Amino acid sequence: MVSITKIGLTGRHLLTLLDYTSTEVEQLLENALTLKEAQKKGECPQLLAGKSLGMIFENASTRTRVSFEVGMTQLGGHALFLSPRDLQIGRGEPIKDTANVLSRYVDGIMIRTNSHEKVEELAEYSSVPVINALTDAYHPCQALADLLTIKEQKKSFRGLKMVYVGDGNNVAHSLLAAGAKVGMDVVVATPEGYGVDETILARAKEAAKETGAHISVTTDPKAAVRDADVIYTDVWASMGYEAEQSTREAALAPYQVNEELAALAKDDFIFLHCLPAHRGEEVTAEVIDGKHSFIYDQAENRLHAQKAVLVALMANV
Ligand code: CP
Ligand code: NVA
Repeated sequence: MVSITKIGLTGRHLLTLLDYTSTEVEQLLENALTLKEAQKKGECPQLLAGKSLGMIFENASTRTRVSFEVGMTQLGGHALFLSPRDLQIGRGEPIKDTANVLSRYVDGIMIRTNSHEKVEELAEYSSVPVINALTDAYHPCQALADLLTIKEQKKSFRGLKMVYVGDGNNVAHSLLAAGAKVGMDVVVATPEGYGVDETILARAKEAAKETGAHISVTTDPKAAVRDADVIYTDVWASMGYEAEQSTREAALAPYQVNEELAALAKDDFIFLHCLPAHRGEEVTAEVIDGKHSFIYDQAENRLHAQKAVLVALMANV
C-alpha cells in the first residue's frame, strides 16, 4: 500500500510555486519520493483511474510531454496531446471558450505557451486544475523536479547555496521561487540586460522571509559560484527568443559554466540543467557530462514530481 499525504491542493491550479505554501511544496516532494520508490518496486497506485489530462503544447517538448503522458498512464488515467495546429485555439477561438469547454471533458489541463497571461486566463475560466508546463515567466514543474534531485543528493535544503548562471529566464524565476519556499539560498548571476524580472524577484524575496532563504542577484558569475552546493544553467535563447541567438551568445559568453568556473564551487557540488542543453554554449561538455552532473536523474524526476502534482490536484485522496 502506497501512503500518499493529503495536501489539500485538490482542485487548485499550479501556475507558479509562489502560490503554494512552503508546507505544500515540501509535501509534494515527499509524495514524489514515495511515488518514485513505489514505481521502482513495480507498484503503480491507480489514483487517477478514469481521469483525463488535456495537454496543450504551443511549443516543442521532449521531457514535459513524455513525463506527463507516462505519469498519467502510470496513475491509471489518460492524457491527450493537443497541439494548436489541431485545436480551434490555433484558429483564434477565445481562451475563455476553450477553458470552459475542455473543463466539461477533462479533469485537468496542462499548458505550455510563451504567454504567462494566457495561462492565467485559462485558469480563470477553467473549472478544472490548470498546470503551467512552461511559460515565458515560470517553469514550476521543472523546479519541483530540481528540488527533488537536490533533496536526493543533499538530503536537506537548509544551508545550501544554489547558483544559477546565465539568462534570467523562466527557469531562473522558478528556481528563485523554489529556493524561497524550501529555505535554500539562491544566487542568480546574469549579464546586464538579461536579469530576472524585478516583480518576481521581489515576490521570491518576500516568500523567503518565511523560510530564511537568502535570495540575491549579481552580474559577477565567479563571486556567485564561490562555495556553491548546486550550479545550474539553462539555454541562452529560450523558446521565443531564437532570433536573438547571436547577440545573446556575445552577452552571455562570460557566463558559460566551464571547469574553471565550477572549480570555485564546493568540492561536492552538483551540476543541474533543465535540458535541452547546448554543449559549448551555456555549459561545456566536461561539466555537463562530468561526475558532478545529475542531469538525467533530474530529467527522470520530472516524472515523479509531476505525478505528485497530478495526484494532489486531480485525485480525491
Ligand atoms: N526541461 C524541459 O521542460 O524539457 P522539454 O522542453 O523537453 O519538455
Ligand atoms: N528556458 C528554456 C527552458 C526549456 C525547457 C525555454 O524556455 O526554452
